[in-house]
Amino acid sequence: MTLLSDTPAVPQTPTKLELPPLQLGKHTIETPVVLAPMAGITNRAFRRLCREYGGGVYVTEMVTARALVERNQESMRIISHDADEQLRSIQIYGVDAKTVGAAVRMVVEEDLADHIDLNFGCPVPKVTRKGGGAALPWKTDLFTAIIAAATSEAAKGEIPLTIKMRKGIDEDHLTYLESAKIARDHGVAAVALHGRTARQHYSGRADWEAIATLREALPDVPVLGNGDIFSAEDAVAMVEQTGIDGIVVGRGCQGRPWLFGDLQAAFEGRADRFRPGLRKVADTVYRHGELLTEFFEDEGKGMRDIRKHMAWYFKGYPVGGEIRSALAKVPTLAELRELLDSLDLEMPYPGADAEGTRGRAGHPKKTHLPEGWLESREMDEKHKAMIAAAELDISGG
Ligand SMILES: Cc1cc2nc3c(=O)[nH]c(=O)nc-3n(C[C@H](O)[C@H](O)[C@H](O)COP(=O)(O)O)c2cc1C
Repeated sequence: MTLLSDTPAVPQTPTKLELPPLQLGKHTIETPVVLAPMAGITNRAFRRLCREYGGGVYVTEMVTARALVERNQESMRIISHDADEQLRSIQIYGVDAKTVGAAVRMVVEEDLADHIDLNFGCPVPKVTRKGGGAALPWKTDLFTAIIAAATSEAAKGEIPLTIKMRKGIDEDHLTYLESAKIARDHGVAAVALHGRTARQHYSGRADWEAIATLREALPDVPVLGNGDIFSAEDAVAMVEQTGIDGIVVGRGCQGRPWLFGDLQAAFEGRADRFRPGLRKVADTVYRHGELLTEFFEDEGKGMRDIRKHMAWYFKGYPVGGEIRSALAKVPTLAELRELLDSLDLEMPYPGADAEGTRGRAGHPKKTHLPEGWLESREMDEKHKAMIAAAELDISGG
């Protein structure tokens, strides 16, 4: 792990986790930590920042199976990796077994990744309304067909395939136990559960009890827990409360790539934590901007992208409203440098204000579903015709 001299460690009570390395097929992951796929966030630039702090699996943003097989330029960029990414991990979203199978086959034949995750957790109305995302596992025939196609293609290249899902559509329509069993029976390398239903979106608290239930119900496949890990201490608590084999961390690392250093320390039983002062944060923002510019091969695009990270990076730091709004509109790397240099860079870590929840939150939302979707666990002809549209124009989960 990279320890940076200007990030003083604050001793806390260490908790040693007795957690073995995570086995994903033929890959041994020493630190059982996964950077959650996040559309618009976990591109090559952000993954580099994160993985410099700790071990684990760093998943790309999701690509749709269809865009991948069509070699859509943006999708090829999304699944690209830096030369030093040792475990090239990608996430695919698809709603049709044939297309998902073709996408996995392409990845295997062209050696585009070392690990594939399938996304079954997207709660976005325009997707669930057509039966996709978190609505899909309700249809066991469709879910099974996708898993069967993906696992058989992945097996040809000995690429571990994992799935990531939510608990279900809502509390009355839970799917996770059944889906996980189907996936296990088809030989997936692990299953990850975000402890929320589609209806919850990002509201409320993730249900870690459901994660424990899944762990207990499926003793013969690695189970990864996801939802509301905002600190190393949260990660330790989730492992202790659920008995899972590894953790998946999303929003907690937004504006805080050093969280992976904290997680590495916690998993090794060390008490040191990254507590960066403002200078370190500013340097990281600039570097992130540079890496995004490289990633997009376009400074304008890099700057448009870095803007959304500003509020996360500076959460809790005493940075005035005027400069915050200038940072949120920054047009060039040179102006970014200037704005960052105008901050009081000697400010130390602000403590609790920089911690706690961050990123998307909000309220439960009615889950829009195709008419008659919940009446049966199997697809009818009407639904079959509609499902293909659920894959078009989707991003995020
Ligand atoms: C901005 C954003 C984009 C996301 N995109 C994806 C995605 O592409 N694929 C996916 O499976 N989940 C996606 N998610 C869900 C996360 O992977 C994760 O399951 C969720 O944020 C809960 O974990 P957390 O509490 O650690 O954030 C996204 C979440 C956010 C906040």
